[in-house]
Amino acid sequence: MAVFVSSRLQKKLPHQQPAIPALVLLLFHLSLGFDPAHSTVNSSTSSTGDGGIYSSSQSWQKEKLNPSQNLTMSDVFIGSRCDIFSGHWVHDFSYPLYDWSKCPYIDGEFDCQKNGRPDSDYEKWRWKPRYCNIRRFNAVDMLQKLRGKTLMFVGDSLNRDQWQSMICLLHAALPQARTYYVSGDTLSTFKALDYGVSVSFYRAPYLVDMVTTTVQGQQKVVLRLDSAEINGRGWKGADILVFNSGHWWTHTGNLRGWDYMQEGNRFYTTMDQMVAYQKGMATWGNWIDSNIDPRRTKVFFRSFSPSHSSITNGGNCYSEKEPTAGSSYLGAYPPQFQVAERVVRSMRSPVSFLNITTLSLLRQDAHPSVYSNDLTVGQRKNPQRYADCSHWCLPGLPDIWNELLYSALFYV
Ligand SMILES: *[C@@H]1O[C@H](CO)[C@@H](O)[C@H](O)[C@H]1NC(C)=O
Ligand SMILES: *[C@@H]1O[C@H](CO)[C@@H](O)[C@H](O)[C@H]1NC(C)=O
Ligand SMILES: *[C@@H]1O[C@H](CO)[C@@H](O)[C@H](O)[C@H]1NC(C)=O
Repeated sequence: MAVFVSSRLQKKLPHQQPAIPALVLLLFHLSLGFDPAHSTVNSSTSSTGDGGIYSSSQSWQKEKLNPSQNLTMSDVFIGSRCDIFSGHWVHDFSYPLYDWSKCPYIDGEFDCQKNGRPDSDYEKWRWKPRYCNIRRFNAVDMLQKLRGKTLMFVGDSLNRDQWQSMICLLHAALPQARTYYVSGDTLSTFKALDYGVSVSFYRAPYLVDMVTTTVQGQQKVVLRLDSAEINGRGWKGADILVFNSGHWWTHTGNLRGWDYMQEGNRFYTTMDQMVAYQKGMATWGNWIDSNIDPRRTKVFFRSFSPSHSSITNGGNCYSEKEPTAGSSYLGAYPPQFQVAERVVRSMRSPVSFLNITTLSLLRQDAHPSVYSNDLTVGQRKNPQRYADCSHWCLPGLPDIWNELLYSALFYV
């Protein structure tokens, strides 16, 4: 057993803050259930798993694989009741699904190979759900299915990570095709013009509105716990929305994104982090319930993306080269996980919960660590303090989140 502590997100913000107290103890269970074989698909496997992606109603018709279709190792069988998020990692040298040097959209902070990361095995793992297999990402199939549609990722830099993964995955299938790309402060968009497909990222780390306003004669940043109207204007019209939020709610000190929190006419300078997060998530949920037509728009919430740093040996994700074997995770989940889960469960709209927290907890090897271009040479020599153990290298883990999203959209 190894003991890890979640560290807060450090990106885009000063690194000079005081050391962060350990917030959550995360225990990894090192089970022996690791499958060393490069699994072959046994198409007679029955799916007996419970759960899977839950949603409060089923509105989108999913394409089911025809059982008479021939199945190969990568052309995959998915059982309708299979929990695609419960499983283990399998070493697979057919990954990664794209070449970092050929994808022009990767931010320097995620571009680990370009930044000199010496190992690359972390790119070569496939997710194997326990009772089924997920379909390998097929960019042309994805583009054809998305034809004329808009897929929008909304949230913080972890969703920017996933968005860039998605556009790299798609770009790899159409290197010569006509594309459009613009990166903005709030909205960034990639388009595959021949398919009329738009894949964008809307930055809203708290999901709820954040405004600059005058409070007691001074310009202040106010986080409106009870409003998502301003941000929501940017979300209307998307056909598929993938949300996340979590890390920013626990930032304190220099890293805190707001001066006041506002609810109704009341302003707060402090509030219990998870209470605030619960309020913000509920506001987001109400906005979805009142503004989204489930026949038109499919909504996902991607569960909390865990950070890794260790208190046992003074290290952290630095120099980790392999995933944790097995599939179980026995420790307490980051508290954001349960808050988001409760809100999603209580919503009237059919929101699919992309439950990637556990499978990502097993991937301490997949963070940029010191191979982020945000770090100075000096900072790279002090991984205990500066390693980025929150974001993920590209190619890497977010590609698998997108494979799961692809399955969840069209094949589960
Ligand atoms: C598939 O699984 C069934 C049931 O476990 C087994 O009888 C069969 O031999 C397996 N087939 C292959 C190709 O592994
Ligand atoms: C499936 O396999 C059979 C036998 O190998 C072959 O005749 C058939 O054309 C294949 N079907 C498809 C859809 O590939
Ligand atoms: C998420 O997945 C983990 C791992 O399979 C599982 O233990 C947990 O119950 C799941 N949670 C939800 C809300 O589906």
